[in-house]
Amino acid sequence: MDWGMKNRMARIIQPKTGKALMLAVDHGYFLGPTSGLEDLGKTVAPLLPYTDSLMLTRGALRQCINAATNTPIVLRVSGGNSVLEEDLSDEDLTVDIEDAIRLNASAITMSIYVGSPHQHQTIVNLAKAVDWGQKFGIPVLAVTAVGKEMARDERYLSLACRIAAETGAHMVKTYYCEDFSRLVKKVPIPVVVAGGKKIPEKEAFELTFKSIREGAVGVDMGRNIFQAESPVAMIQAVRSIVHENHSVKKALELYHDLLSKKN
Ligand code: 5RP
Repeated sequence: MDWGMKNRMARIIQPKTGKALMLAVDHGYFLGPTSGLEDLGKTVAPLLPYTDSLMLTRGALRQCINAATNTPIVLRVSGGNSVLEEDLSDEDLTVDIEDAIRLNASAITMSIYVGSPHQHQTIVNLAKAVDWGQKFGIPVLAVTAVGKEMARDERYLSLACRIAAETGAHMVKTYYCEDFSRLVKKVPIPVVVAGGKKIPEKEAFELTFKSIREGAVGVDMGRNIFQAESPVAMIQAVRSIVHENHSVKKALELYHDLLSKKN
């Protein structure tokens, strides 16, 4: 890896712990005004001190985030679909690398839809994004999006993650599954886990804990943070698992402690 690529990777995966806490707020690119993100800037501002990086679209970045922030940006560069379509896989690259550089992105990210009607175009687009990344020293985070029909088992997710790695992605984001550690062994790049839809806080801590214990480099969590009763307390508790090896019990105690101080 060249210096620029290494430097940007070190902004995402913290050298001190070798782990990464990423905050995902890119949902609007196909879901529109997602619950909790109606006023994206207001929701995200108090969370920035606690996340290692922020994953979002260029529109949200330009309109809603203070340009004085030091939080590294993971810029979504794919889109072209909406929740109103049955087939979500029809995505293309929607941001040029020049604009990603103009926005000082520390990494770019895009979805691949393995096994879906548009898998070919999304994987070829990943290859194009990797070529951009190699040219300018910008890491590419591939997201293994699951079509509505896809099972989220180890076999499928390993296939999708391995294809992302073989296509040249520098990191991959996927879902936690049973036998997750087997997936990690088969994927020669750092793996981060998506939070998925909102679940009770304890379950979100368990998801984080198991992901890290079984080899994930971190979590890239959205709804389970910004839809929590207290997103600021939630992100600190998730962070404590990722970077301080807190148990689920300790994270839950921290969450309730922070919650009671807030109220
Ligand atoms: C969608 C994404 C989202 O960033 C991700 O799924 C959001 O995180 P969460 O599932 O935790 O709300 O990549 O393809």
